[in-house]
This record gives sequence, C-alpha cells and structure tokens, in this order.
Amino acid sequence: MFKVLVCDDDAGLRLSVQAALAATGRFEVDEAFDGVNALEKIKSKTYNMVLLDVDMPRMTGMEALKAIKEHDPSIIVLILTAYANIDDAVRAVKEGAFNYVSKPIKSEDLVAMVDRAINAFSLISQATASFPMQVEPGREIIGHTSQMKKVFNVIMRLSKVDTPVLIRGASGTGKELVARAIHSNSSFKDGKFVAINCSAIPENLFESELFGHEKGAFTGADQRKIGKFQYAEGGTLFLDEIGDLPLLMQVKLLRVLQERTFTPVGANREIESNVRIIAATNRPLEEMNKKGTFREDLYYRLNVMPINLPSLADRRADIDHLVNLFIQKFNRAQGKKVVGVAPEALTVLKKYDWPGNIRELENIIEHAFILEESNMIQVSSLPETILGATGTELSAAQLRAREESMDKGLGDSDLDGDNANDSDDDGGSDQEMVKISGDTLDFNKHKEAFEREFIIKALKMFKGRINQTALHANIPKKTLLRKIEKYGINARDYAD
Ligand SMILES: Nc1ncnc2c1ncn2[C@@H]1O[C@H](COP(=O)(O)OP(=O)(O)OP(=O)(O)O)[C@@H](O)[C@H]1O
Ligand SMILES: [Mg+2]
Repeated sequence: MFKVLVCDDDAGLRLSVQAALAATGRFEVDEAFDGVNALEKIKSKTYNMVLLDVDMPRMTGMEALKAIKEHDPSIIVLILTAYANIDDAVRAVKEGAFNYVSKPIKSEDLVAMVDRAINAFSLISQATASFPMQVEPGREIIGHTSQMKKVFNVIMRLSKVDTPVLIRGASGTGKELVARAIHSNSSFKDGKFVAINCSAIPENLFESELFGHEKGAFTGADQRKIGKFQYAEGGTLFLDEIGDLPLLMQVKLLRVLQERTFTPVGANREIESNVRIIAATNRPLEEMNKKGTFREDLYYRLNVMPINLPSLADRRADIDHLVNLFIQKFNRAQGKKVVGVAPEALTVLKKYDWPGNIRELENIIEHAFILEESNMIQVSSLPETILGATGTELSAAQLRAREESMDKGLGDSDLDGDNANDSDDDGGSDQEMVKISGDTLDFNKHKEAFEREFIIKALKMFKGRINQTALHANIPKKTLLRKIEKYGINARDYAD
C-alpha cells in the first residue's frame, strides 16, 4: 500500500482528503495537524507521499517541505493550497514539491494528481522501498529483478570467503561495481581495492606491473618498483579483462593463487601474498580454453563460484530504479531538481535495447540532464540514437523544444543557428563549417577539416566528455578517440 501523510491544520480538510484516498483502496492515509507534527511522523514511519498545506501555524509549509526533503528526498510532496497562496505553491514546486492542488479540493482531481505524481515518481518510491546493496558510502548496486537478487546472494556468500571470483558480463553491466561490493563486504575491506586492466598493459611490462621489479632487473629499471600485488596486500586485486592476460602471465597468476607467493622481476626472494583476487571478463573463456588462448587450469581455479551479470535488456524492470538512481546522482552533481522521467520518455527507455547496458543508461541520463530545462526528463531530451533505434518520432512542438535547448546548450559556440546536417549545403551562411574555394578543392582535405572542426565543436558542447560526445554526435567511442588522436585534439581543453 502506498503510504500517504496528510498535513493540514484544518481537520475537516484532512478528513475529506483521507476519505477521497481511502475510497480507492490503494492508499494508507495518516494525518498530521501541522508541519512539526508531520516531521515527527515521517521520522518514525516511512511515507511515500506527503500532502502539505502551505499556511500553517508553528512551521510554514515551505519550511516543512525543506525539512521533509532533507530527511528523505524520495518522499513525494504535493502542496495543498488556497488560491490566495498560489505564489507560495509555485515556489514550493521550484523547491522540490511535485505539484500543487488548489482548494477546495475535488476528490477526483486529488486522486488524479496523486496518481500522476506516483507515476512520475514510481522510480523513486520503489527504489527506496526495496534493497539496493551498499558498495561504498553514497554508492549502491540497484537490482530488484530476480536475476539481480541472485547476484546479491552470491555477492554476500562470496564476501564471507576468500576464494577467487570470476565476474562475467557484457560491457557496462556492472562488473567493476560488483567487484567493489564484494571487496567492501569482505574481510579484505580494510585493505585497498586495486584495479588493473589486463587489456591495457603491454605484454613485456606485465610481470613487473603485477609483481614489481628490483633495480636493474632489466634495461630501464633504474628504480625498484612495487607491483600491484604488493600494493594490494591485505586488500583486493581486481583483474579486469582477464581474458586478455598473456599466456605466460596466466601461468604466473595461477601460481600465486595456489602458493600465495610471488617473486618480483629480478629478485631472488619470494614474497608472501594475502590478496583477494577478483577477475572479470566479457570474453568466451570456454572457447578460449579450446583454442588454447586461456589456460584451463586457471579457468577452473577462478570459476569456483562465478557471477554472471545479466544484460540490461534482460532485466528491464530495473530500468526505472536505475534511472532514479542516476537522477539523484546528477541532481546532486549538477544542483538540479529533476523529479522524474515523463511517462513517454520512460516508455522509450524501456523499449531500447541497451547494448552498452547500465553505463549507456547512465550516460543517456546525464545527456538528458544537460538538455532538460523542466523538472522532468522529457522524450525530447533523449539522444537521437535512442529515438531512432526505438522508432520514436517527436512531434513538431517537441522538435522545437529540443532545438531551443540545444541552441542554449551551445552557448556562444559558432555552431549556433547552424545545423551539422547542413554540411553539404554550400549556400551563403558565414557560419558554415568548411569554406570551399577553387584552389582547395580536394575532398579528403575538406573532409578532414570538417571532421576536426566538428569534433572540436561537439567536445565543446559536451565539455570535453568523450562518452557524452560520442553518444550525442553518434560516433562510436573508439572512432572518436582515434580521430581525436589523429587531429591532435586535447579533449581536456574543453572541460569546464
Ligand atoms: N546494478 C547497478 N546499480 C547501479 N549502478 C550500476 C549498476 N551496474 C552498473 N552501474 C553503474 O554503471 C557504470 C558501469 O559499471 P561498471 O564499470 O561496473 O561496468 P563494467 O561491467 O565493468 O563495464 P566494462 O565491461 O565496460 O568495463 C558505473 O558507473 C556503475 O556505477
Ligand atoms: Mg569495467
């Protein structure tokens, strides 16, 4: 049942609200006679919604709103207001109330407004009603689907033992987050969590990276160096992309797992190691076993209790909750007060296939935050890639809203008023991206000039953020990175 607290100093009004909501059979309604009383109640019991009068003794509705939101930002607050106080109600909405209902209150209007608020907020209320798993303070793993509940069980079980862990899952499904959750719930939690990406280390440096080296162990080793194993001593070493570990290193890793000792490069002593190993991969290790590119003995050692993370498309019911989590995150980061996602936009998010999984969802919410000016994420703030992939067409009004906010987003950039699709229109604008004249009539040169300029403008627009730029400009991230390198662009130049 949805728990509602009606806070008004007028007992008659409390009674009629109570009756209107109770008649639906969907709400459990309590009463508070003023703001102070309401705060006492929300501190002793969890409510999903507060219906709040503006004009009350002891504490004004505005003060009560602020205190309620401080206590629990996920409580939906609906303001009850008389016409005389409509300005206050509008101000309350700016301060985080969902909306207001004016008195005298008709029961159908009230129920309709409460339902609208619940729809918009279904995200927020459900997310707090259930159990997200804490990873670190302020960081949690969301998962309400049966697949994720299984994952949580395995995480809890693995946290109590020190066997190696293998986490499998497609890109962006949360492998690293799960690794951190295991670490911070385990007996290794007072040690460090050290992550190493096996695909990013050149083969000849691997051994020294993991185990360290003595001074003079090889050309260029002019200092003694501590390896990641020693660095992570007493903590967790997260070996990301384990499928890319070179064969020789696979042998050495297996040895550490079995004997709990290792030898730095060039050293003649063994060092004892007490490190929890968590590995992750997106690669088909079983096939690699057959091909001989991933050792079977290491595979079996790691695969004692594997965790398979489902892709987001296989647990769409979690989309609401994740969206809510990211809304709260970006509200905090950007000082905004977005309260939810418009139903139409949520439908699109639920329909999309999410090849980049949760990371992609997070990027898309961040993108929408940049464009959105109202307190709800509208479909017009979603990137074109998603609208296209889900066959969503914007109405003329939505297209206009989108263009306006894009123009603002561009600020004083000279893309203003122009449109990237105009590039093959060589007509008169002095803001065109490429100027053509007889003596530079070389297609490739112009293509490169265009690409460079386009990328710089896109980076400016998204403050040098690669993921955002790639997503919004519809360039695969790898291609974008390649081109940034090719044209000698420094994305950081465009950060804030
Ligand atoms: N269940 C979840 N709840 C909340 N946030 C999540 C969840 N899963 C992933 N995230 C967030 O999504 C982003 C991607 O997660 P993470 O880096 O752990 O994925 P990954 O599987 O390691 O990706 P890759 O394969 O690309 O390295 C992170 O910002 C992470 O905090
Ligand atoms: Mg990762």
